Amino acid sequence: MKAETRPHHERAERTVRLLDPGLTLEHYRHHLEALYGFYAPLEAQLSEQLADFLPELRAAERRKLPLLARDLRALGHDASSLARLPHASWMPPLTGIPAALGCCYVLEGATLGGQLILRHLQRHFAGVPAGDFAFFRAYGEDVGTMWRAFGEALTRVSSAAASEEFDARVVQAAKDTFDAFGGWLQQEAREATLQP
Ligand code: HEM
Repeated sequence: MKAETRPHHERAERTVRLLDPGLTLEHYRHHLEALYGFYAPLEAQLSEQLADFLPELRAAERRKLPLLARDLRALGHDASSLARLPHASWMPPLTGIPAALGCCYVLEGATLGGQLILRHLQRHFAGVPAGDFAFFRAYGEDVGTMWRAFGEALTRVSSAAASEEFDARVVQAAKDTFDAFGGWLQQEAREATLQP
């Protein structure tokens, strides 16, 4: 998975500018707003599909939207301003279990790189009221456990399916999710710079 999607990870990673030394609170807030517009439509679909098929994944507990909402509230948002945030227009097609698993792989894997970003944000915004970085903190000390549990579920389902086509659909969905993520973040960043 990792090897096959590496170039897609690299492209998505480049759209995350949170490690820039000149990062401002406004940039950070804007990044979270863009993430909110991506996770809101995607997670709703995803956790529904996975809850039915793979309840042991505890998809509801993996949802990041409440964490994004918490961070954005700490930066001045309220329920009505959150509801007005634009949503990504292109979503990876979640047509069945392999697609849901490929998409989930990307969202779950993002919690790993997220730990590096968390440590950076904590240092960068030390002493600044920037919230407690709930999204990047994700599952806190359970990040590793949650990632392994996802990996085991993926391996189990893929072994049970024992089909190259199944695996290819998982990989394709992961690539599509990375690309949808990167495309949306890039579009949002462009719009932010166009604003006066
Ligand atoms: C500045 C941004 C990012 C950095 C620095 C970063 C860094 C990393 C690092 C260091 C790992 C390996 C962690 C480990 O093995 O313990 C990783 C894994 C991963 N990241 Fe990122 N990442 C970033 C952004 C993203 C984004 C935006 C996504 C998804 C939208 C993503 C998805 C993944 C996935 C799926 C894995 C798991 C790969 C595997 O082991 O199969 N990352 N990332």
